[in-house]
Amino acid sequence: MQIAPSILSADFLSLSSDLPVLSQMGISVLHLDVMDGHFVPNLTFGPPLISSIKPHWPGILEAHLMMTNPDDHLKAFVSAGCNRIIVHQEVCWHLHRTLQTIKNLGAEAGVVLNPATPVETISEILPFVDLVLLMTVNPGFGGQSYLAFVEEKIKKLVNWRKGNSYLIEVDGGIKAEHLSGLQSMGVDLAVVGSALFNQNPVSENLKDLLTHVTSNI
Ligand code: DX5
Ligand code: ZN
Repeated sequence: MQIAPSILSADFLSLSSDLPVLSQMGISVLHLDVMDGHFVPNLTFGPPLISSIKPHWPGILEAHLMMTNPDDHLKAFVSAGCNRIIVHQEVCWHLHRTLQTIKNLGAEAGVVLNPATPVETISEILPFVDLVLLMTVNPGFGGQSYLAFVEEKIKKLVNWRKGNSYLIEVDGGIKAEHLSGLQSMGVDLAVVGSALFNQNPVSENLKDLLTHVTSNI
C-alpha cells in the first residue's frame, strides 16, 4: 500500500524542501486538496499553486476536487500538471461524461465518495474509473478523526473489484495505527496529511509511517 501525502496541512513555503525529501523516501503520489468554499466550508488553492509544485514533483499529482462545478475546471487542472483528477460523485450530475472528459484530457479519472454516500451509487461506473477514493472524514479540513464505519464500504469495493481494475484509496484522519489494517483490507493508497505535516520533520514522520506498510508500492 502506498502513502499519498496531502499537502493541506503543510507549510506551503516549505514545500520546495519537503517535496524532494518525500520523493527520495519513495513517495510517488502527492494528494492535492482543492476546496472551493461551497462544496466544503474551506478554501484552499487551485492551478497556480499546482503549476509551482509540478517542477518539484517527479511523481503523480492527484487533485481531489472538493468543488461544486468540477466540469468547469478539469482542463485547467490537467494543464497545471495533474496526472489524476478525482471528482465527488455527489456533485456530478453526468458522472460518466465527466470521467470520460478527464480521460480525454489525458489524465487518470477518479471518483470520491463522502462517508455517508453509499458505494452502490457508483456501481455502474466502476468499469470506467481508474481509482475510487473513500473519504474517512467529512471533507473540508485536515486533522479530523477517522470514521471507522467507512471500512464496510472498503470491503464492498474490494469484493466488486474482481473483473475491474480500479485502485482503492482512503482519505481522512489516517494515522500510523490505521495503516496495517487498511493494507490488509486491500487498500492501495492511504492519504495522510496532518500525521505527516506537523511540528516534527516530514522525514521523521514518514519514516515512522512507512514502518506500518510492507512496501510503498
Ligand atoms: C479533507 C481532505 C483530506 C485531508 C487529510 O477534506 O480531503 O485529504 O487533508 O488530512 P488528515 O490526514 O489530516 O485528515
Ligand atoms: Zn483529500
